[in-house]
Amino acid sequence: METESLVIRQARIIDPSRDLDQVGDILIGNGEILATGSLGSDSIPDGTRVIDGTGLVVAPGFIDLHCHLREPGFEYKETIAAGSRAGAKGGFTTLCAMPNTDPPIDNAAVVEFIQQKARQDSKVRILPIGCVTKGRKGYELSEMEELASAGVACFSDDGDPVFDANLMKLALTYSSDLGLAISNHCQDKSLSCNGVMAEGPVATHLGLDGIPAAAEEAMIARDIALAESTGGRLHVAHLSTAGSVPLVREAKDRGLSVTAEVCPHHLTVTDQWVLGGKGASASVAGSLAYDTSTKVYPPLRSLNDVEALIKGLADGVIDCIATDHAPHDLTSKQVTYQDAAFGISVLETALGSLMQLVHESKLSMVALVDRLTLGPAKILGESYKELATLQPGTTADIVIFDPEHEWTVDTSQFESKGKNTPLDGTKLKGRVVATIVGGTIVYDGPGLQFQAEKGRA
Ligand code: NCD
Ligand code: ZN
Repeated sequence: METESLVIRQARIIDPSRDLDQVGDILIGNGEILATGSLGSDSIPDGTRVIDGTGLVVAPGFIDLHCHLREPGFEYKETIAAGSRAGAKGGFTTLCAMPNTDPPIDNAAVVEFIQQKARQDSKVRILPIGCVTKGRKGYELSEMEELASAGVACFSDDGDPVFDANLMKLALTYSSDLGLAISNHCQDKSLSCNGVMAEGPVATHLGLDGIPAAAEEAMIARDIALAESTGGRLHVAHLSTAGSVPLVREAKDRGLSVTAEVCPHHLTVTDQWVLGGKGASASVAGSLAYDTSTKVYPPLRSLNDVEALIKGLADGVIDCIATDHAPHDLTSKQVTYQDAAFGISVLETALGSLMQLVHESKLSMVALVDRLTLGPAKILGESYKELATLQPGTTADIVIFDPEHEWTVDTSQFESKGKNTPLDGTKLKGRVVATIVGGTIVYDGPGLQFQAEKGRA
């Protein structure tokens, strides 16, 4: 299929796959990247549309290893169509869809249903994730080989942990043969019990049951031991505590095949936000109010945790950022904190909130792009690296963003059906201008400036 040709002029091109961070042009045609660098007029075919990239960053499209698109089964929370529009608006060109759907993604037919739906409805690439266990129930392994042949990106029972250590051991054993990671939602439920937020002073203040850090760390430690004994490929989903970082660091130092992801909210929001004052302390918030849009698993934690996660991400112990986009309907959140569903709608705010780390010099722009592109691609495997580079001759999956654009989050403008975010009404600095999948512009946002077509000026 022939797609139009486009040239983005004078943008800051960041391509971690080639250690590239320089101002230049990028030419796209036939769905591929044709050239990058300083392109003379002669090398641009007539009829090429010209985008003014001045002040903008161009990077490989973001890859999200962890999101919930809710289809099939929970279309009132999200659909592949709406979730893909939200992803495109957030700069994501590939979304890996978690299998806590109804039916769950535990057989090839459901994988094929999602692939088919994605072909019809999606603006971005959708990679289904297969269940580790049948029905995501935790008692019997799924047909992992059948799922792998059908094309799943990895395996996970996300929403729930693989609690049975022997099943996790078996899954890890198969993971190396299949070449696909096991992404575990590490939560020892005998420790988290009825907890609804992080254990600590805010939980005590509100009289809510706390979730100790050990609920996560104990299972990560168990899984690392199992990865060591099997040689399997372990991926830690939504790592959230300061204590989890050294566990992953030591596993990597021992040469184990262990990777980890962290979510934007765990890098930027603390448990103070549960009080409803958008980060203001209890004395300022002054009441026993709470904001159920802050309820998420793993829970938002202390500033100490947030800082440790940022450091772990910056130094590469944490391989990538994944959104854990978990859209919910209004009624799942307009209830008491205990009863509210866990989850935050993240796709459309991810870049803006993460850019805060860059503006505050806690993370370099190149590292941020790496953790959203090459980092996740490496976890998916060799064949996906093609989606995380601006190398000429590869697929044109590209994001263009304005790192300085200030905007106010307004969930009524979200493409996602999930309006559940504590960031509603807050100001962010950094916004996607355009998203390109396979050479086609799938999102065209504020700030996209076309110049006259080449040859028709
Ligand atoms: C996720 C969901 O809603 O499916 N919720 C969440 O709080 N993260 C499940 C999950 O990722 O564990
Ligand atoms: Zn989870």
